[in-house]
Amino acid sequence: MTWEELERAAKGCARCALCETRTNLVFGVGVRDADVMFVGEGPGENEDLQGEPFVGRGGQLLDVMLKIIDLDRRRNIYIANIVKCRPPKNRDPLGTEQEACIGWLRAQMELVRPKIVVCLGRIAAQVLIRPDFRISQEHGRFFDVGGVQYTALYHPAALLRDPRKKPDTFVDLKNLQARIREIAPGTYERS
Ligand code: URA
Repeated sequence: MTWEELERAAKGCARCALCETRTNLVFGVGVRDADVMFVGEGPGENEDLQGEPFVGRGGQLLDVMLKIIDLDRRRNIYIANIVKCRPPKNRDPLGTEQEACIGWLRAQMELVRPKIVVCLGRIAAQVLIRPDFRISQEHGRFFDVGGVQYTALYHPAALLRDPRKKPDTFVDLKNLQARIREIAPGTYERS
């Protein structure tokens, strides 16, 4: 399947009830052949309105975090979410919604073929790394999943709620940058 076919099919999706309340399906943003892919949980209000992941306050913080390690959503990474439509009142996506939606992310991953996947927050880590993933204990560690390196950072919204988590995230970001230089150096050669 091509990117265009995939995006068109996703935008017509009615696999769960979230399609009834969405303004826009939030497909993804960034470089479609990036070596590094970031995965969040699901769109919030601003993302639903604009059709792009991480454009609210959390998104602004994410952009700052990315800049610290010379990453940029339009230059050298791809960003998507576990669920593509906004859960009402920003509740966590239900297991049934995640199951209905995950095929779109898997298809995106097959097209991007990232070397490193960075989960943003607990929900993405539990879906992509391990169901019992403990973000407070395992953030920043790397896990080999089928030959791809997976790691998780605290979600930007969690950092906004509890800035005491920021120093740990700074360390995690610098370790991520080192891993990118080691196994995906092309990331830093894009202009
Ligand atoms: N939070 C997420 O997990 N994803 C977004 O796209 C926005 C906020």
